Amino acid sequence: MRELARSLACEAGEQVRAGRPERVTVAATKSNDVDPVTDMDRAVEAQLRRRIAAERPDDAILGEEGDDVAGTSGLTWVLDPIDGTVNYLYGVASYAVSVAVVAGPVDPARWTALAGCVHSVVDGHTWTAARGGGAERDGRPLRVSRPDGLSRSLVGTGFGYAPERRARQAEVLAHVLPRVRDIRRLGSAAIDLCLLAEGALDLYYERGLNPWDMAAGALVAAEAGAWVGGLHGRGPGSAMTVAGATPVVDELVRLLEAAGADRPEGMPGPDD
Ligand code: IPD
Repeated sequence: MRELARSLACEAGEQVRAGRPERVTVAATKSNDVDPVTDMDRAVEAQLRRRIAAERPDDAILGEEGDDVAGTSGLTWVLDPIDGTVNYLYGVASYAVSVAVVAGPVDPARWTALAGCVHSVVDGHTWTAARGGGAERDGRPLRVSRPDGLSRSLVGTGFGYAPERRARQAEVLAHVLPRVRDIRRLGSAAIDLCLLAEGALDLYYERGLNPWDMAAGALVAAEAGAWVGGLHGRGPGSAMTVAGATPVVDELVRLLEAAGADRPEGMPGPDD
């Protein structure tokens, strides 16, 4: 499964690399005007779906750019053809293909991720993980960092596309930023989670992730020793995903809980 995920993601990455036009245009928008889809997102996902249908015909498929495909095996391939589409659109180097296979319900808090691969298109870095089999980048085993407290931690995060969500995320950020070493917003949750796995980020949190943004990256992070979860004892998912080594990640969880970071938008936050 790990090898198949790697093969799928790397082949798709080659398709993205080779086919990137000089000027990328927006083919359509999704949740709102700033949430783009390009022709490449669609073409790559279609090719991933064709290969999975040929090689794993009994498995289900959940992808960012297409309809869900039902299966009979209990396994689901979770696909993001380009995670970091805005970076791809602008030519900022952080975008990746993310491929994972999970067992059970298609919900990050309840599924069992079995294998995954994140392939960073521009620099070619390839992170893979298998459940119980560790995480690696290009053959090198990965281990999360052990920062000396929250105040010494470099924290990755991201923002959604909806204005009201972003406004709330900015409020939460105002609580986090003064208490950490610094913040990075690189634009691909899949890559963020892999950077966490190799110690290039100490901690990561984000509200609003879709299953395909995090399926492979969360497994890579967990297999590199990260705790990956949500707030208030919940699992990771759209409401909140937090990752990092214990015990420092616990400090971030407490801070985010105090800031009401997983509270639905429109409900009063700590500053209201
Ligand atoms: C986005 C990226 C980004 C994150 C957004 C995601 P997309 O995925 O992962 O880093 O902050 O929440 O939607 O739209 O580029 O596939």
